Amino acid sequence: MTQALDEIKIGGLGASRKRVEDNRFIRGKGNYTDDIVLPGMLHMEILRSPLAHARIKSIDTSRAWQIPGVHLVLTGEMMATRNLAWMPTLSYDTQAVLATDKVRFQGQEVACVVADDPYIAKDACEAIDVEYEPLPVIVNPEQAVADGAPVIRDDKENQADNVIYHWEVGDAEGTERAFARADKISRMKLHYPRSHPSPIECCGSIADFNRATSKLTVYMTTQAPHIIRAAVALVAELPEHMIRIISPDIGGGFGNKVPVYPGYVCSILASILLERPVKWIEDKSGNLISTGFARDIYLDGEVALRSDGKILGVRMHCDADHGAFFSDAQPSKFKIGLLHSAFAAYDIPVGHITARGTYSNKAPGGVAYRCSFRVTEAMFFQERMIQAAAHDLGMDQAEFRRMNFVRDEAFPHRTPFGFLTDSGQYAKCLDVGLRAVGYQDFLRQKEAARTKGRRLGIGISTMTEPLGAGNSREYDILGIKMFDSAELKVHLTGKAIVRTGARTQGQGHETTWAQIVSHELGIPAEDITVEEGDTDTAPFGMGTYASRSTPVAGAAVAMVARKIRAKARKLAAHLLEVSEEDVEWELGRFYVRSAPSRGVTIQECAIAAYSNMPDGMEPGLENTAFYDPPNLTWPFAVYIVTVEVDPETGVWDVLNTVAVDDCGVRINPMIVEGQIMGGLTEAYAIANMQFITFDAEGNCVGSNYMDYLLPTAWETPGFELHSEVVTPCPHHPIGAKGIGECAAVGGPAAFVNAVMDAISDTGVRNIDMPLLPDRVWEALTYGRDISGAPPVRSDD
Ligand code: CDP
Repeated sequence: MTQALDEIKIGGLGASRKRVEDNRFIRGKGNYTDDIVLPGMLHMEILRSPLAHARIKSIDTSRAWQIPGVHLVLTGEMMATRNLAWMPTLSYDTQAVLATDKVRFQGQEVACVVADDPYIAKDACEAIDVEYEPLPVIVNPEQAVADGAPVIRDDKENQADNVIYHWEVGDAEGTERAFARADKISRMKLHYPRSHPSPIECCGSIADFNRATSKLTVYMTTQAPHIIRAAVALVAELPEHMIRIISPDIGGGFGNKVPVYPGYVCSILASILLERPVKWIEDKSGNLISTGFARDIYLDGEVALRSDGKILGVRMHCDADHGAFFSDAQPSKFKIGLLHSAFAAYDIPVGHITARGTYSNKAPGGVAYRCSFRVTEAMFFQERMIQAAAHDLGMDQAEFRRMNFVRDEAFPHRTPFGFLTDSGQYAKCLDVGLRAVGYQDFLRQKEAARTKGRRLGIGISTMTEPLGAGNSREYDILGIKMFDSAELKVHLTGKAIVRTGARTQGQGHETTWAQIVSHELGIPAEDITVEEGDTDTAPFGMGTYASRSTPVAGAAVAMVARKIRAKARKLAAHLLEVSEEDVEWELGRFYVRSAPSRGVTIQECAIAAYSNMPDGMEPGLENTAFYDPPNLTWPFAVYIVTVEVDPETGVWDVLNTVAVDDCGVRINPMIVEGQIMGGLTEAYAIANMQFITFDAEGNCVGSNYMDYLLPTAWETPGFELHSEVVTPCPHHPIGAKGIGECAAVGGPAAFVNAVMDAISDTGVRNIDMPLLPDRVWEALTYGRDISGAPPVRSDD
């Protein structure tokens, strides 16, 4: 007779446990970087360039030095004397820490001041006199490669133009043949605009160098503390064991807090020079103008079609605008991230992708904003192309998707771009979504409404997303292989602490990692503490971005718990006085196979590990596991949106949003739902209202929350979520797939496709995001495509 614990009651897999971290967050008891105050701490502010491209003729800091309370004024020239004016980026480029020769984007860091308080530091920044000689400005790839374009990166030897890379994947000749056989070729040109992750908390750091111990401690807003430690060791030439990076609570990251920013480096140097803690907290406009943009890719895509709807091949050319420095944090093998995951859900025989990266006079971009390295762009392009192809063929968009999906029995499936997708039930998810939205009824309503002059539309987005980089064979950042680790210590009372090298920024790791341990060991989740973010205590990890935590760190947690269970089994055999082979496991308890009522709990084994271990056994119940995933995880999602567009104003209202997400086994269904709702909210905002672009002079338009709108509960539509399709990941120890970013990745196309469907009779093929009312109105009124690409008129 089983005496196993009830997994849901103890907070194991599948329990919608309330997030333990919320206890402190909703009481205002979080501990963010800006909350930390150290004795003798000084404050740093950054002077940023007002111009997008200009030669620096002179910098005069004398007035700033004279202001009482100023301790240090740093310029690029001073940084250069310590070989710190430039730093390596995560994509093998260099980036100016403080400008020496030129400024290359509006908002670039030119100087910084350290003072007794931030106000004095800010005033002193304004007292720095910089003389600029303006240069011609580039704000898009077309300008970047035009004849006679100024070379933005003239600091680099052998850089005679503005091209960073050419990259290709797939089979060019095979694709050519597929296109030659096609009955129809569907073409789509569009731009995925720059967007900004815009976390509530901006970036910041407090560097504290202690000359007596030679130890540098940095409290900072980073999603990847161990990577930052390695970068600081390399840039500042400090020994790694003397660097401690502590990432306290983070007020949202979304990729914005992965890169190494000049502010971090300057605060570190300032602390070393002054031997006092130096705090830098970025302000909101600094964050919006200069740190961590995402997207900004142009697509020229074609789909080769057979008249019955079969896709014969795809061809995509992408132009990526990286801004002034190529600083993407992404696996080094792939210059344009995982853009080649496009069409992974579809059974496409052949394809070819070319990509070109260019510099521009914009802040460095390429942040994987809630995205697995350019997957958002890949899925957006894919789903816009799919809808256009269905429309060009005159086919139903749902049926067109279904007939081209990879079938359930076809897994594992090798995509034409080299990925191995391993599981999914795509058609079933689509059916659930279509049923939920009342697809056929809606199509009828749409026709009926059209006769009365009303414009309804339905948009579908279906995608599988590669989450959980590595494996280490293919994935590395700056040569550091992408795996993760977890450490588990079970105390003698049977309570436990688990630590990983991931770093939660609101995703709820403190809750869900405990649930994994609970599932593996039967220790109640409330008896398990989770700790992340301190490189002196956490085991090595590549950090949290690209929804890789559950696929990699979460798997390491399961694996280390299994190591603990293996040792506990030996302890149980000893306590029960039987051989290990005679011991069986059920949740929370080992028992004798032939006498199930004779058993010991995991807690009894824990006490024995410290007080009554068998002869020869190493005491204690602790272990570490390193996890190198055999493959990415491949969640699948269907997002369906219905809208009504007002032809008089171009305003569009969302009528219904249905989401069907298959992320394998759900550790915490409530947290998963929260992740999906958050992602859909961001998707809606990007599609509808977030406008951040540049005028011809490189001024950042939308660098404030009057233009770059964050949706509140008021604007955000309701979402209907479905969880009935569960395809466990075949290689993940608990069958989980990532979920954190799926809805943000797949969602935008559903909203845009819905609006485009509502106006599909006008011949308009594309309106670039955001689909602001004036753009929709202009497209409808004049029957023309609307490009949102910069430069915009400054008065727009
Ligand atoms: O890397 P990141 O934490 O941003 O993304 P994730 O691994 O997809 O996880 C986001 C949150 O959802 C975490 O708290 C996960 O543990 C949870 N999750 C879950 O409960 N079940 C899944 N199958 C996937 C994630």
